[in-house]
Amino acid sequence: MTATNRMALGAEQSDALANVQTGLLIGGWRTVLEKLPVENPATGKVIAEVADGTADDGVEALDAAVRAQRGWAATTARYRADVLHHLYAAVIESREELALLITTEMGKPLAEARGEVDYAADYVRWYAEEAVRLDGRSLTTPNGRSEVVTYRGPVGPCLLITPWNFPLAMGLRKVAPALAAGCTVVWKPADLTPLTALRAASLMLEAGVPEGVVNVVTTTDAASFSATVMADPRLRKVSFTGSTPVGRRLLAQASEGVLKSSMELGGNAPLLVLEDADVDRAVEGAFVAKLRNGGQSCVAANRMYVHEKVADAFVEAFAARVARVAFGNGMDAATDLGPLIDGRAVDKVAGLVTDAVARGAKVLAGGVVPDGPGYFYPATVLDHVAPGSRLLGEEIFGPVAPIVRFQDEGEAILHANATPFGLAAYLFTENGDRARRVAAALDAGMVGVNQGAISDASVPFGGVKQSGLGREGGAEGIEDYTELKFVSTPSVR
Ligand code: SIN
Repeated sequence: MTATNRMALGAEQSDALANVQTGLLIGGWRTVLEKLPVENPATGKVIAEVADGTADDGVEALDAAVRAQRGWAATTARYRADVLHHLYAAVIESREELALLITTEMGKPLAEARGEVDYAADYVRWYAEEAVRLDGRSLTTPNGRSEVVTYRGPVGPCLLITPWNFPLAMGLRKVAPALAAGCTVVWKPADLTPLTALRAASLMLEAGVPEGVVNVVTTTDAASFSATVMADPRLRKVSFTGSTPVGRRLLAQASEGVLKSSMELGGNAPLLVLEDADVDRAVEGAFVAKLRNGGQSCVAANRMYVHEKVADAFVEAFAARVARVAFGNGMDAATDLGPLIDGRAVDKVAGLVTDAVARGAKVLAGGVVPDGPGYFYPATVLDHVAPGSRLLGEEIFGPVAPIVRFQDEGEAILHANATPFGLAAYLFTENGDRARRVAAALDAGMVGVNQGAISDASVPFGGVKQSGLGREGGAEGIEDYTELKFVSTPSVR
């Protein structure tokens, strides 16, 4: 970090950065010569450098994970649960430091970053609790000949590839169930936000995770890193959160080694405001569903379908609410909305808005890229978005809310489902029967009714269609890190 860039940070941010181990965690910490720069998206300035690992480092990390696998799997579930409880306490104790790192490298407002730390820690606590409940079942075969007991054991060394939008939560959501199940891991965090992951890795070691059980490799060479590690027959699982095109490529590579695969991929969440919705409730829910994490979330409401009967009231109140959103540096207490992650993201969002406006959409708030520094895009509302507009079909990943008005519920459901994705959906109605009927008709792994925030460590997060495979969180999330085995013996009854 240059002196000038350091001065652009506050003392607390600099202290948090100073605590980060910037090497690779392969068995123990090691330094390498190649470095990758980390930017603060609120300023566009480089604020740190961390190790830029290679595919060979990935293989060495897998060596370490393989060496540690037998010993970690042999620990008792209670032991692993205790380690995870220690990690939970360490993460909570480090809330402020971790939140500062998240805001500094990813941009979200500090209050939201603190919320992410709590959300992330919840996964650790949840899987500390689940570690001791990995039961099998017993049965007698219908012909009465055999008694069968099923067991769940760790799948083995796992590759975990995590995104930049929730640098801590997406990491801990994978690491915690893996450790709980008795797996060792190679974790590749996003190169845009490695600092939070590296600090979390130090906390894991301090909490009692033995060396070699968690290995972390930061790299700018993601494609050859993952291809090389996944081609190694000792790897038994890959878990990825990111875009559908990358997920598809990883699945193709995983097929070679028949790797167990969990994919949490892209979304294009529809949000439906039905004619009997409580408009105030819908406005609040839509606001959260759109603007949590600045819209940089795969469960963000991507398209809003609003019934003609309530559309004017909804649009007026929603646009007024969004127009009050202050964007700026996430370290400023007055900031509601931080920057996008980089300049490419700003160009993409601006391009989608330009396309929609060219097709007749009306800008009710935002819609103009501000001058720099930093990668900002204002909270934006577009009304009367025309069918065929690109942002109805592509994941926006930014603070833009396109509104489409409809007259018929069936037509709205058809539009909502007219996408290859099926992660989240939201719907607002005061009629319980209708809520259940429409929720059932929506092609989505997760449906929020009268609420815009649906994520929680206790729920099975995941999608249908091209939004992914497997579930993270909940009792289901640990199963993806296990193999099921049964032992059959002659019946003695
Ligand atoms: C994501 O955007 O990938 C995850 C969002 C969440 O956990 O709520």
